[in-house]
Amino acid sequence: MSDNVLTPVLTARWDQSDAFTRRNYEKADGYKALRRALQRKPEDLVEIVKDSGLRGRGGAGFPTGMKWSFIPKDSPKPTYLVVNADESEPGTCKDIPLMLADPHVLVEGVIITSYAIGAKHAFIYVRGEVLHVFRRVLNAVAEAYEAGYLGQDILGSGFDLDIVVHAGAGAYICGEETALLDSLEGRRGQPRLKPPFPAVAGLYASPTVINNVETIASVPSIVAGGAEWFRGMGTEKSPGYGIFSLSGHVTNPGQYEAPLGITLRELLDLAGGMRAGHELKFWTPGGSSTPLLTAEHLDVPLDFEGMTGAGSLLGTRALQIFDDTTCVVRATERWIEFYKHESCGKCTPCREGFWWMVQILERLEKGDGTEADLDKLLDMSDNIAGRSFCALADGGVAPVISSIQHFRDEYIAHFEHGGCPFDPAASTLFS
Ligand code: NAI
Repeated sequence: MSDNVLTPVLTARWDQSDAFTRRNYEKADGYKALRRALQRKPEDLVEIVKDSGLRGRGGAGFPTGMKWSFIPKDSPKPTYLVVNADESEPGTCKDIPLMLADPHVLVEGVIITSYAIGAKHAFIYVRGEVLHVFRRVLNAVAEAYEAGYLGQDILGSGFDLDIVVHAGAGAYICGEETALLDSLEGRRGQPRLKPPFPAVAGLYASPTVINNVETIASVPSIVAGGAEWFRGMGTEKSPGYGIFSLSGHVTNPGQYEAPLGITLRELLDLAGGMRAGHELKFWTPGGSSTPLLTAEHLDVPLDFEGMTGAGSLLGTRALQIFDDTTCVVRATERWIEFYKHESCGKCTPCREGFWWMVQILERLEKGDGTEADLDKLLDMSDNIAGRSFCALADGGVAPVISSIQHFRDEYIAHFEHGGCPFDPAASTLFS
């Protein structure tokens, strides 16, 4: 059993019915951190979050307190907070259950963060397809207004804040922060060139902090527990805890909250292991935009440094687990279909590159490819990554490069065998 055990924080109340109501949140000490925060100076709160070492939970791991401190103090323009609730990285399933089970922890985090950065308007941009989540967050915001946690002169502090909950229209690219801003402004969501970063020129060209749902939902517990408490978990450079989503060929798929630095072996113990009779073949640490790893990496710490050291990225902690019945060529082709479909079309290497990659991968999967196709895929990856406005292109090539790196023989077996060497009847994943 794992030594990396944690008394759940964010997931503590997920199995309680009606945990999402304000009454039940308040019974569990909800909104106490807000009362405490409003008695502090905003700059003290920025310092607490900086000292905690909290790093962005949306995938990139940028230090949260540092991001907040980039907001100019003397800007004549208003400051905005935008919560990126457009979770859509394949395999990632943590923000949506969090908002469903415990939306008030997000609302409380939004109020504290807005106070800390001096924002009087905050936006929660929710993925449009998950209407039930959108409604749940809307309802929590309405309940917070009723209780005087939002609106004018919050809890007699003199601080005013309004929250707008916005439903996107279901495009993966709108999870990219600058495309999200364009979408929120009413335009087609396409990434902007950075810099300027949103902290300087974001929503309506005003200073804007954009943070992920889990990041903002972690703020109340840091204010309540203190920076040292948070730093007591996880690793030195990746402190705290996070929600790990395990999916695929595991006995008990689901969300597991654990300190950063836990290993896949330990998480598999918590999840009842691989499904009976099968071995781990490959996995993604943070969704399909992070390079694939194999059973060799079972003991690598799942923190930002550990994953980079293993040649991958921690990303969104979306652990998609594939066993020995899975064809890696087919899995990769399916992922690249996704990137082809979701490319916003703004940058040519991404728009055209993924289209061509799908043609080649389909050919390879059917057994009609050649070894030259593998070199072509690697060459194309080189011409897509780093040559587009946003991280979609870099993420999309990750499964291609890493699958060829770890499973070149399996690609070759396809064209030597004249088709997929896997018995489709044995594979349950894509049936
Ligand atoms: P990034 O590294 O460019 O930026 C991360 C954050 O730090 C952004 O908010 C950015 O504005 C800020 N930042 C970076 N440098 C800055 C500077 N010098 N000054 C001010 N602010 C600065 O990463 P990006 O493109 O925002 O996100 C990529 C990540 O997104 C990937 O690692 C991937 O794991 C994740 N992702 C998550 C998805 C999800 O559904 N949660 C979907 C797709 C990707």
